[in-house]
Amino acid sequence: MKTIIYNIGTLAGILPSDVRKLDGAEMNQVECIENAYLVIEDGVITDFGEYSADRCHFPNDSSTCGQGGSTVLETTPDSRTHNPESEEADATYIDAKGGYVMPAFCDSHTHIVYAGCRDGEFRDKIAGLSYEEIAARGGGILNSADLLHETSEEELYGQSMVRVLEIMSMGTGAVEIKSGYGLTVEDELKMLRVIRRIKETAPITVRANFLGAHAVGRAYKGRQSEYVDLVCNEMLPRVAEEGLADFVDVFCDEGFFTVEDTDKILSKAAEYGITPKIHANELEVSGGVQVGVKHGALSVDHLEKTTDAEIEALRGSGTMPTMLPGCSFFLGIPYGNAKGYIEAGLPVALASDYNPGSSPSGNMRFVMALGCIRMRLTPEQSFNACTINTAYAMGVSDILGSITVGKKANLIITKPVPSLAFIPYSHQTPVIEQVILNGISL
Ligand code: NIG
Ligand code: FE
Repeated sequence: MKTIIYNIGTLAGILPSDVRKLDGAEMNQVECIENAYLVIEDGVITDFGEYSADRCHFPNDSSTCGQGGSTVLETTPDSRTHNPESEEADATYIDAKGGYVMPAFCDSHTHIVYAGCRDGEFRDKIAGLSYEEIAARGGGILNSADLLHETSEEELYGQSMVRVLEIMSMGTGAVEIKSGYGLTVEDELKMLRVIRRIKETAPITVRANFLGAHAVGRAYKGRQSEYVDLVCNEMLPRVAEEGLADFVDVFCDEGFFTVEDTDKILSKAAEYGITPKIHANELEVSGGVQVGVKHGALSVDHLEKTTDAEIEALRGSGTMPTMLPGCSFFLGIPYGNAKGYIEAGLPVALASDYNPGSSPSGNMRFVMALGCIRMRLTPEQSFNACTINTAYAMGVSDILGSITVGKKANLIITKPVPSLAFIPYSHQTPVIEQVILNGISL
């Protein structure tokens, strides 16, 4: 099946096929083509280029245009749409009406499989309790674990799919989803099976992350090391046996899991060949970055609290520093020092952290806007942080995250907007006109 998007005002986010992430100053650029077209075949980008009446011809003409040289476009889009008898009659034409076409967002850090919500804690938060104080009173992650325990797998899938559809409609084309509200062997497996079902049934690209070490389960209160043993010796083997996780995660932070716990869990995960992605330095400088890098983590996430030591640990590591500005916004905690990381030559990714406790939103456009407004990234840096670098942080930058021939056609078409900057600047204006996943319009 072939789809041709024409009348593209600006095609943004073009990258060569060998680029997997953008580091430091490379993040300053977003390559664009004005007045463009893009061709999709069987869900994959097969060609794109500048639309030109001189160079782009209708099928009868043997000359072609574009990178792949396979595109045939008639000279007037209007007649094309009204010419079903043409040689391209089997193609679907999408008129971008002068808008931007850009890669769909990749959201490399979410917890969108959860039961119910935590709106009661929202009141506590407004009344002045901190995230740690709410957790210490038995709320927080344990509250979500109680709710999840009482929720059937079917119901959990239904509730989670509502959020999956919501983020898709807001332009997210790939999502990493963590477990971590189970905290017992059976409930962690229940969550991961729901994530697998989402992967199988939704058009969005999904990667699953086993986060058994999100908090110590209630039954293990005061026995943290025994809970870590449960994660290592009972949960991980079952997760690996059923092939339920692409990644393993640990909340390595003050009041949660220690560097030693994390080291133990990641060593065990390595025996099963499962790559880590770590929660670190949200509440305190935790050592989580260093232990993550030591174990070859694909990303270390949060980083609201960091020092020069973290920057040095990440240099040359292949580990993506990922910041979650929606969490900083919601909890009122500091934003990660994204600019400092970029100035140090490191890459930065920005993800939503969509979860019921610290970031109840999966709107990646808002994340991109916070990247600019609160972290002082340029629109180009923030765009790259939400697309190619998050694709890297979830291990999909070979197939997603940019406009590249051979990558999946997961795309956003906007209304005509004056610039890339307008997208985060006018962040509540509904500019997303269409979302295309696997070449198919939602
Ligand atoms: O990434 N920080 C740890 N985990 C989540 C919050 C989970 C929750 O509060 O439910 C986060 O912010
Ligand atoms: Fe998180």
